[in-house]
This record gives sequence, structure tokens and C-alpha cells, in this order.
Amino acid sequence: MALDIVIMAAGKGTRMKSSLPKVLHKLAGRSLLQHVLETAASLGADRIITITGHGAEQVEAAVQAPHLQFVRQMPQLGTGHAVQQAAPSLHADGTTLILNGDVPLIRAETARALVEACGGERLALLTIELADATGYGRIVRDGEAVRAIVEHKDATPAQRAIREVYTGMMAVPTARLRQWLAQLRCDNAQGEYYLTDIVAMAVADGVPVVAAQPAAEVEVLGVNSPVQLAELERLHQRTLAVRHMDAGVRLADPARFDVRGTLTCGADVEIDVNCVFEGEVTLADNVRIGANCVIRNARIGAGTVIHPFTHIDGEALGATVGERALIGPFARLRPGAELGDEVHIGNFVEVKNSTLARGAKANHLAYLGDATVGERVNYGAGSITANYDGANKHRTTIGADVHVGSNCVLVAPVTLGNGATIGGGSTITKDVPAGSLAVARGKQMVLDGWTRPVKQKKA
Ligand code: UD1
Ligand code: MG
Repeated sequence: MALDIVIMAAGKGTRMKSSLPKVLHKLAGRSLLQHVLETAASLGADRIITITGHGAEQVEAAVQAPHLQFVRQMPQLGTGHAVQQAAPSLHADGTTLILNGDVPLIRAETARALVEACGGERLALLTIELADATGYGRIVRDGEAVRAIVEHKDATPAQRAIREVYTGMMAVPTARLRQWLAQLRCDNAQGEYYLTDIVAMAVADGVPVVAAQPAAEVEVLGVNSPVQLAELERLHQRTLAVRHMDAGVRLADPARFDVRGTLTCGADVEIDVNCVFEGEVTLADNVRIGANCVIRNARIGAGTVIHPFTHIDGEALGATVGERALIGPFARLRPGAELGDEVHIGNFVEVKNSTLARGAKANHLAYLGDATVGERVNYGAGSITANYDGANKHRTTIGADVHVGSNCVLVAPVTLGNGATIGGGSTITKDVPAGSLAVARGKQMVLDGWTRPVKQKKA
């Protein structure tokens, strides 16, 4: 049976007080709407129709999903009016599932159950009981049978006492939906076309109305303000943290843990407080992450320790660290950093687009950019690769067992042969043969019995 999904995302989101359309605000690193689209895509819909209005161009450019199409609603005359715009794009029959672009955490299982409850012939509403139902559409029942949804602003005091509310999500027989949409009127407290009016129409037409509930309230929480966005973020992060801990990850504090993408962990991984994981991050067995690290698009090998305040940003190229490596504190790994096993990167060392073979060490205050570094190299404090000539980037190649003293400048392109030694303070502009010592600095001059100038007294 055909499944169409309609996602409502035309509203303004006034209470966000932001120039960014509401559905593009981010939760766990992805826009609210992208969350809903990913869930929708997992349901195997034939068509996903997103209704845009406020900031339509920006919204349409920012999100993606298979079988996605956009329908614009200008102006926005209510939720019923929104779905009316999508009606011509729907199949003739089957089921239409309505979701909201600002309710990001609806689970696929819940949505699927709603579609099944509809089965192409019943009107299935997702409802929930709330302690405070203010603002929501109330589910009006006659005994067990659902009779209608009444919007808060149109409700009588008795109806306002009802705690079962409509979550904004429903699954509807598509052919019926088209008929009902055509009959909507806007003679209500808000002068809007309410989608929720189709419930009374279903009852009048003898179409069964059923109600299903989500497993957890967080699935139906919408975002209307920065406070609600932050609250939902914490609820979501808590869920992710518990999921990782249940799989054996030891988090120092689940309340100070943020995943904005996909984090994959092996056995016996330990993560201290205030760490942020973005994009695709993999931590192999026995990895330890110190406090206050930010790690994005990176793979960290087994037994490696990332000390506090380390920033690893693999960006598009990715960054990899081998096994039993020691990184940080205060290290910075950038895109294309490929570190082998047992590599040591210490404080204030930056590595970009460079390969470091097993056991290479750069422990203090250094820069390695566009470099190929051999096994067991010792790269001294304050040394840098001068990889950029103002127009082009060049490579530095450092052979195995090279010792680079402190405060050296390696002007690329340049090659240091295996086992070469570079004297501290050298500026190296020419290749250095294997096994040799290169010193390229001003010779020390010593003047005996030197008398320093004395300050002249004022007359
Ligand atoms: C709606 C429901 C209410 C339910 C509540 C749950 C109606 C009439 N009421 O009320 O029963 O309890 O959601 O949160 O449906 N939108 C458009 N175009 C419009 C108007 C809204 O795309 O013209 C979108 C909004 O961007 C939002 C969604 O539809 O994603 C819901 O709109 P909103 O104004 O928040 O509806 P509520 O008044 O909260
Ligand atoms: Mg709302």
C-alpha cells in the first residue's frame, strides 16, 4: 500500500526570536527537520512531502532525504491549509502520515505503529496524556470512542480539563484525507484551517478513529523556544549517554557528554567530563578520553589515551590515531592527520595533513603540516614545517630515526634522510642526507670580559 509522508515545516517559529527558520535549528548537530526526514526515510515512504513557507528557500537548500519533494504554503493559514497544499502531490489511495518538522525525536517504531493502526482505512491519532495540557488540541471522547479534537482556544472549560492531547501526528487514509481537506472551514477562534477538524468529519463519515501513544513523551516534544530546544537537547543526550553506558562505556558524567553525529565505541572505553563528539567518531577498545576534548570525524585506535583539552577535527578528510598513542594535553589534530601506533603528540602541537609512522614523537610546541614522518622520529620543541610559500603548499619528508632539535624551521619542499640529525635552531632549506648532521644557524660568538653599558646619571 502506498505510503506518503507529509512534514509540516512552514511555520515561523516566532518564539525562537531568530532569523534562522525554526526547523533549521540544530539538535545533536543536525537540524530539527533533518531528524524528522531521517526517521521518515527509514519508514520506506514512496513520497516525502515537506511543506515550507517561512524561509522556504533556506529550508529547502539545507535538508535532504530520498524521495523528498517540497510544497510551498504561502501564506500560512493553518495546519489544515498546509496539508491542502500537499494534497495534489499525494497518491490516490493508501496512507498519509503527517509529521511535524519541529518535533525531532519521534521514533520510527512509533510512526510505523501509527501507519499500521491506520491501515489505509482508519484515522489514527498519536495522543499523549499531559499533566499540563495548556495550548494543545484536546482529544474529546464519548466513552472510549474518539469524537473530535478541540483546539485549546476553542475549548470549553470542561474540555480544557481533558488531559489527553493531540501530538500533531496522525496517519490518515489518503483518499479520505483529500475529501475532508476540501471541506475544512476557518470559522474558529484563530480563523485558521485546522487539520484537527478532520477527526469530527471521520466520525460523521463512519470512519473508525483510533488513538496510539508513543513509548516516551520525549518523542512528541516540539521546539518553540531556545529553552525548549536546550531541554530537548539534554533529554536526547541523556538517552544517548545511557545507550553508551548500557553498552559498557564508562562516562564520568552522563550530563556532561555530547554526541553530535555517530559515536562508535569498543570495549572498556572511558570518557571524562565535557567531551563533544561530532560527525563520525570511532573509539576502539580501551581508549581513554580526558576531560574537555572535542573530537570530530576521527578514528582512535585501541589503548590510545587522549589527554584533556585536545581538539581533533578530521573535517572532510578525517583524522586517524593508531593504537597505544598518547595525544595531548592541549594537542590539535587537523584534517588528514594520520598517526601510527605509539605516536606521542604533546601540548601545543598541531598536526595537519601529515603521516606519522609508529613511535614518532612531537612532544612540545610544534607544527607538522604536509609532512611524512618516519618511525621513531623525535621532533623537537618549537620546530615547524614551513609548508606554505605564500602561494602553494609543499611537502616535508622526514626519514626514520631522524632527530630534529628544538626550534627548527624545515622549509618545504625538503627531505631529511633516515637517521639524520638537525641541530637546534636550524633553518633547513636543502635536503639533508641520511646519517648526517645539519646545522644551519649563526655561529656563537664569545667576547671575553664584556662590560655592559651603564645608565648615565642626569646632570
Ligand atoms: C497543533 C494542533 C494541536 C496539537 C499541537 C501539537 C492544529 C490545528 N492543532 O497546534 O491540536 O495539540 O499542534 O503541537 O493542527 N504549520 C504550517 N503551516 C501553518 C500552520 C502550522 O506548516 O499554516 C506547521 C508548523 O510549522 C508546525 C505545525 O504545523 O510545525 C504545527 O503548527 P502549530 O502552529 O504549532 O500548531 P499548534 O497551534 O501548536
Ligand atoms: Mg505548536
